[in-house]
Amino acid sequence: MIGVIVVGAGVLVRVSSPAPASLDWSHFILWTLITLTAAAFPVRLEGGVIMHTTTASIVAATFDSSLPQPFGACWVALIGTLELRDIRRELPWYGTLYNRFSYVLSAFAAWLALEATRDAIGGSPFASAVAIISVGLTFGVVNLLLAVSVASIRTHTPMARVWAVSIGNVLPGLIALVPLGWLMAQVADRVGIWAALLFMAPLLLARYSFTKYAETRSLFFGTVSALSQAIDAKDGFTRGHADRVSRIAGAIARQMSLSERVIEQIELAGLLHDIGKIGVEDRVLMKPMRLDPDETELMRRHPIYGAAILEPSAALRPLVPYVLHHHENFNGTGYPEGLAGESIPLGSRIIIVADAYEAMTSDRIYRKAIGHDRAMDELSRYKGMQFDPRVVRALEQLIAKQGAQAFEVSDLPPINYETLAELRKRLARDPVTRDAHAG
Ligand SMILES: [Fe+2]
Repeated sequence: MIGVIVVGAGVLVRVSSPAPASLDWSHFILWTLITLTAAAFPVRLEGGVIMHTTTASIVAATFDSSLPQPFGACWVALIGTLELRDIRRELPWYGTLYNRFSYVLSAFAAWLALEATRDAIGGSPFASAVAIISVGLTFGVVNLLLAVSVASIRTHTPMARVWAVSIGNVLPGLIALVPLGWLMAQVADRVGIWAALLFMAPLLLARYSFTKYAETRSLFFGTVSALSQAIDAKDGFTRGHADRVSRIAGAIARQMSLSERVIEQIELAGLLHDIGKIGVEDRVLMKPMRLDPDETELMRRHPIYGAAILEPSAALRPLVPYVLHHHENFNGTGYPEGLAGESIPLGSRIIIVADAYEAMTSDRIYRKAIGHDRAMDELSRYKGMQFDPRVVRALEQLIAKQGAQAFEVSDLPPINYETLAELRKRLARDPVTRDAHAG
């Protein structure tokens, strides 16, 4: 962090000395104002990344030949990106400086790319297109790398994860800001600065679409989480079972070096793996004794119900195979299809291990947790039979690295309701005496 501040400050001093003999203040103020306006409307993405549409006007300032360069681009990047949270001192001073100088470095790198392109291809007909691409790429790589790396350090999240949950899906929108910036510079140069101000409209529109994306994503995850808690409540599990299964499964998937997109799907499938229990009658689901063969058959249908529930939703459809096969045993003795080995989707092989580990290490209303060591012994004993040995090994490595407490942290609020199964058990033990008024 300090390195970025020092290098950024060094670059700024270097480009400012000697100070340029003349400066077109109208253009400088124009780009600074548009950048400040864009910075005043940040969008908070998941993964701790804050983004705005300042890219367009910084790129415009870089392309503006009426400004002394790279002085103009670097100072627009420094002053223009000042946000309200910086002015309100909501960030520590080094956070404010890091953000400012990461923009200065991005603008400086973009200017270097522009100069290199001009030297290389000069006045060829494709010069503008190549310049836009090289400026966009350089600005984007430096800027996003600095933003993602600091968010990764701050939230203790791997960089690939931060990228996947925040930047990955808004990247096309960010890329579109680069040619828009070039166009703004051309319009300011040939038509006038008043015309460049009209570009505020598409910038605000782009910002609106980023906001909608962030809202939709949070709505989706909030809904899935609410649904998974509803299943926990009905199932009689302690609250947070599905949440823990999801986090354990995600951590195993990451340990196995799967892509962030697949990890996210496995985490979602972990949250919803037992959603099919909604279709199983309560008398079977909550029976305190051993199930008879017919009841076992009914219970074993829950992965099929789960798959059928998720299937109609385009967003949840990728989870269907994981949910359908989360009770398949590695040796082919599981259900519903009796798949074996590699023919079971990897996500399902991970969820069955996470589910078993979670069930053994947390208290249930009908029994106490057996503890981490015995749980690992059990997983080890059944590897190759119920569990994929590779998945069990990944969990062992994960726990060796992070400790058995790795999955204890949850941001879910504490349990403050009685699950249906707990209520039934209490009523059976301690029947309610109806009072006369209740009728
Ligand atoms: Fe299940």
